[in-house]
Amino acid sequence: MATKLQWLPALLLLLLFPIFLVGGLKTPKEAASGAHNPVVLLPGNTCSQIEARLTDAYDPPSPRCAAAGNDNARWSRLWKNTTAPEPDAPCFADQLRLVYDHAADDYRNPPGVLTRALSFGSTRGFLSDTPADKELCMGRLVEALERAGYVDGETLFGAPYDFRHAAAPPGKPNREFSRFRRRLRTLVEHASRKNGDKPVVLVSHSQGGYFALEFLNRTPQPWRTRLVKDLVLASTGAGGFVLSMQGLATSNNANSSRSTASSPANVLKQRQVSTSFASVFTALPSPTVFGPDTPLVVTPSKSYAARDMAEFLAAVAGFTPEAVRRYETRALPVALRFGAPLVPVTCINGVGVPTVEKLVYGRGDGTGPEVEYGDGDGVVNLASILALDDVIGGDPRQEEYKSVKIANMSHLGVVSDALALEVLVGEILGQPRAVLMSRVM
Ligand SMILES: *[C@@H]1O[C@H](CO)[C@@H](O)[C@H](O)[C@H]1NC(C)=O
Ligand SMILES: *[C@@H]1O[C@H](CO)[C@@H](O)[C@H](O)[C@H]1NC(C)=O
Ligand SMILES: *[C@@H]1O[C@H](CO)[C@@H](O)[C@H](O)[C@H]1NC(C)=O
Repeated sequence: MATKLQWLPALLLLLLFPIFLVGGLKTPKEAASGAHNPVVLLPGNTCSQIEARLTDAYDPPSPRCAAAGNDNARWSRLWKNTTAPEPDAPCFADQLRLVYDHAADDYRNPPGVLTRALSFGSTRGFLSDTPADKELCMGRLVEALERAGYVDGETLFGAPYDFRHAAAPPGKPNREFSRFRRRLRTLVEHASRKNGDKPVVLVSHSQGGYFALEFLNRTPQPWRTRLVKDLVLASTGAGGFVLSMQGLATSNNANSSRSTASSPANVLKQRQVSTSFASVFTALPSPTVFGPDTPLVVTPSKSYAARDMAEFLAAVAGFTPEAVRRYETRALPVALRFGAPLVPVTCINGVGVPTVEKLVYGRGDGTGPEVEYGDGDGVVNLASILALDDVIGGDPRQEEYKSVKIANMSHLGVVSDALALEVLVGEILGQPRAVLMSRVM
């Protein structure tokens, strides 16, 4: 364990554990008649379902792929299709990957593949077919909000997004994210109008936080002030996490890159698919949060700190120079501008769970790195969580900011554990802030 854990007992003592009933069990009628502010949810990575339609321009890797579940006029489930037969996995992989279109200077689907996020506007499009996906994809939170009187399509809305994509810096072509911003803007206006012009509460989990923040930061300030009551960021840090580097290094390992997805439902495990996504760089540790000289990955020949990320991507993770350039010109500038949205913000993070802090390669038997753990939520490092207090809370223009850290709570637990849900729903409903306040250190 890293030295940071030394002060953890003190941190735990500081934390409050509020136990209260959620929302007084309002009936849907009361809620619909305007008891609460409308809520719009942005789930985490892989939670949005993606539908695809093939056109004649599609060049299938095998004849099976031209047929697999698709005739040209029909939309069908690309992600996540749990009923497709195993031989369709290579087809799904081919259709789910992204390509970089040099002429457009932007990410695109492979030619002939059209995609769309399922059920924009509703929480019903989030993955929830299996219990594991329900925990991962805000299914428990939706249930808790419905118990508190929220009704999908009336007071509760969903903003699924194509998780393969990511925001690029302003000025860069960024078609998918621009489309998402337009749709979310319309959805927020609709949700507010439908609820007596009450401003909405945006609630995000994990990757959804990046989409929510970049969305807000690109709306006109008067619009934001009028239409957004609060941004509740669950399980998002201000500067990414080291675990994302492990994923990239491991998938470049000769042994694992040989493995292929065995079912259409886990095509994302294929390196050729996952590393083609714009979002593959989103959560890499940011140099503003992880010290310039703190080694995060150590190999026999070199140590890599956050500022050495481009070199790490090329040397350890096996990206082409062109892909590394996209990290430098698209992902890094967005990571560096992670900042205060100037609407009230509530951050809710788990802490106290062992979290990958450093990876040392070449010491063991060659099957994987030696992992050093520190504090965090099991995914996001504590440094990244604490940096929220400076990057958002410390911005003098940010008038309202609150951070709730829940001891021994995991990244997923924040949106699925019963205790965490009480805290989260309490924040969404706007419980008196003093009760739950736990600004640490
Ligand atoms: C899943 O894939 C199968 C075969 O590829 C297809 O028949 C089915 O319609 C797909 N499911 C959905 C919900 O689109
Ligand atoms: C791949 O697996 C074999 C057998 O499990 C192991 O001996 C070898 O070291 C592994 N190679 C790498 C690069 O991890
Ligand atoms: C957190 O977990 C540790 C280890 O299991 C335990 O000692 C501690 O009491 C827990 N803290 C809280 C506040 O639950």
